[in-house]
Amino acid sequence: MSQQNTEAKNLVEIKHLKEYFNVNVGFFKSRPLKAVDDVSFTIKKGETLGLVGESGCGKTTVGRTILNLYKPTDGEIWYDGKLIKTNADIKEFRKKATMVFQDPYSSLNPRMTVSDIIGEPLDVHNLYKSKEERRERILELMNYVGLNSEHASRYAHEFSGGQRQRIGIARSLAVNPEFIVCDEPVSALDVSIQAQVINMFDELQDKLGLTYLFIAHDLLVVRHISDRIAVMYLGKMVELADANEIYSNPLHPYSKSLLSAVPVPDPKVARANKRIVLSGDIPSPLNAPSGCPFRTRCPHAKEDCALSMPEFKEISKGHFVACHHVEDVN
Ligand SMILES: Nc1ncnc2c1ncn2[C@@H]1O[C@H](COP(=O)(O)OP(=O)(O)OP(=O)(O)O)[C@@H](O)[C@H]1O
Ligand code: SF4
Ligand SMILES: [Mg+2]
Repeated sequence: MSQQNTEAKNLVEIKHLKEYFNVNVGFFKSRPLKAVDDVSFTIKKGETLGLVGESGCGKTTVGRTILNLYKPTDGEIWYDGKLIKTNADIKEFRKKATMVFQDPYSSLNPRMTVSDIIGEPLDVHNLYKSKEERRERILELMNYVGLNSEHASRYAHEFSGGQRQRIGIARSLAVNPEFIVCDEPVSALDVSIQAQVINMFDELQDKLGLTYLFIAHDLLVVRHISDRIAVMYLGKMVELADANEIYSNPLHPYSKSLLSAVPVPDPKVARANKRIVLSGDIPSPLNAPSGCPFRTRCPHAKEDCALSMPEFKEISKGHFVACHHVEDVN
C-alpha cells in the first residue's frame, strides 16, 4: 500500500469498458462472449487498486484491454488526462504502462541468461548509450528486485519460481514504467514466498512511485497491498471501495461470500462473518443471466433481480455497489 495523498490525481480512468470476444458456437455460428461488460473505475497516481473475483470473471481481460493488448469493443481508456485512441497514443502509452504475468515459468525464455532477459527491452527501446551503461542499468534493475550480480550470467531455468518472478519484474521495470498491471503475480508461487514477493511490489512502488492494478483471485492476497479493492463477477464490477471498508463493511452479497472465506484474526469479526457457501457454479458468460449477473447464486435474489441490471451506485463516499436490494441485505 502506498503512502497515499488523497488529493492525488487520477492516472488511469476507465469508462464503460467492454471487451466482447466472438466465439464459435456451431457451424458458421458465432456469439459475443461478454468477458468485460461496461466496467468503469479510476486509479490515482501512486495508488494500488486490487481487482478480485473468481476464475473467468474477466480480470485478465480488463488488464489486457486497458493496455490495448486487446482492442476494446467499446468504452474509453484515459491515461494522465489523455484519451488513448490512435495508434500513436497507444505506442506512447505502452512506454509508460506494462504488465507482469502470472506464470513465471512460461513467461521467460529458460535458455536466456538473466542479463539478456532484462537487457532485451533496453535493446528494443534503445535505452542506453554504451555497453557499460547497459550493464549498469541491468545490475540496477536486478538490485531493485533483490538479485545480485552473480545471478546475471545464469539461465532462467536455474531459478526457483519466486526468483523467476523477480527476473520478470526487473524486465518489466527496464522501460521505466509508471503504471503496471500485475496479473496474479504470486498465484503460481508457493504460499511461503508469496508475502515476500508482495512486499517487494510494495517497496518498489514507494521507491519508484509506481501505480498498480493488482489482480488476484483471493481477497487475502490483495489485502495489504491495495488502497482500494474492486470485485468483479461475470464481466461486471459489483463493488468498489477502500480496502479497509471492503473488509469491514462489504455490501454486495458476492463480496460478502468471498470475504467469508478469508480467515480473519479478530474472533469477534470472525463470528460475525459466518461462512457463506454459494450454491451452483458461475454461469458461462455466453449464457449470462438476465438482470443481475449474480442472481442465480445470490441468497437474497428476488423476482425483480431478473428484470434489470442493478446500477453501480455510490452508496457512501467512495463505496460503489451494484445491487437492487443493498439496503435489505445489509
Ligand atoms: N482470447 C479470448 N477469446 C475468447 N474468450 C476469451 C479470451 N480470453 C478470455 N476469454 C474468456 O473471457 C472470460 C474472462 O476471461 P479472463 O481470462 O479475463 O478471466 P480471469 O478473471 O482472468 O480468470 P482467471 O482467474 O482464471 O485468470 C472467460 O470466459 C474466458 O474464457
Ligand atoms: S440485485 Fe438481487 S440478485 Fe443481484 S446481488 Fe442484489 S439481491 Fe442479489
Ligand atoms: Mg486471469
